[in-house]
Amino acid sequence: MRPRIVVTRKIAEPALALLRETGDVWVPEPDRALPTDELHAAIAGADAVVSTLHERVDAAFADAAGAQLKVVATVAVGYDNIDVPALAARGIVVTNTPGVLTDATADLAFGLLLSVTRRFGEGERLLRSRTPWEFDLGFLLGTGIQGKTLGIVGLGQIGTAVARRARAFGMSIVYTGRRRADTDVERELDARYLTLEELLRESDVVSLHCPLTPQTRHLIDADALATMKPTAYLINTTRGAVVDEAALADALANGVIAGAGLDVFEKEPEVHPTLLELDNVALTPHLGSATRETRTAMAMLAARNAVAVLRGDDPLTPVVP
Ligand code: GLV
Ligand code: GLV
Repeated sequence: MRPRIVVTRKIAEPALALLRETGDVWVPEPDRALPTDELHAAIAGADAVVSTLHERVDAAFADAAGAQLKVVATVAVGYDNIDVPALAARGIVVTNTPGVLTDATADLAFGLLLSVTRRFGEGERLLRSRTPWEFDLGFLLGTGIQGKTLGIVGLGQIGTAVARRARAFGMSIVYTGRRRADTDVERELDARYLTLEELLRESDVVSLHCPLTPQTRHLIDADALATMKPTAYLINTTRGAVVDEAALADALANGVIAGAGLDVFEKEPEVHPTLLELDNVALTPHLGSATRETRTAMAMLAARNAVAVLRGDDPLTPVVP
């Protein structure tokens, strides 16, 4: 019998084609975020589910699918929406898509860094409001980044890619994380390993690249923000809940830090209303991996993972519980 493969959201056609070679594929028509009851009905009897970060994948999800479920392949690098131990306990393989979105996400993080330090959004809003303006030596001055220190929280693949970009822009690198990076990475980036507190004190820009876990939820809270320099900027392209968004809104409104560049939010798609009012915040709507090339590569990797497990082969990029 051909395996049943459920794809929870529309993915790139070449990835669907690959899945159709192996099984009977179901995709919601039209594409939409399925409410939990519809999702659970849709995955009943699935041997493989290709999922996204929209869905809560937990014991109830596994039960709704049934005992034949072998693999959940998420089209994302982050898997905080997945209860990996609960699935592992049922023998279900979980895979994610590391690597293929590293550069796209690092580009967006660096773009937010430039946008907030150089006030792109403010300038654009001024022009679009048709406010009269003229070139002036003191007009919309930003902050230069050359010679400044970038603090990377989580020097994984994406953090390293952001650090490389920062080096090319003349910044120096400090980092923190659960463990020290390889010596050759430290040497390449001329990066110093610090505690989080030291990093917050020293950095002119702090960029977050750790996954969301119980340990990193609200890692950047009011105390952490107060530890940062009043001239410093915070960039977040990982998960909104790594930052206490209300505390950040307060800190930005009260000059505790200079600005922020945010691609992710605690209660997406909601954004804290204060952040929407402030000029010292650059905002994008969770676009880190949103290039055509990257989204296709992510879908292909997820499809290859699902197919590998269905064939009894090792997955390419398993999440290890
Ligand atoms: C996107 O946020 C991802 O985790 O891939
Ligand atoms: C994953 O790609 C990471 O940022 O470590």
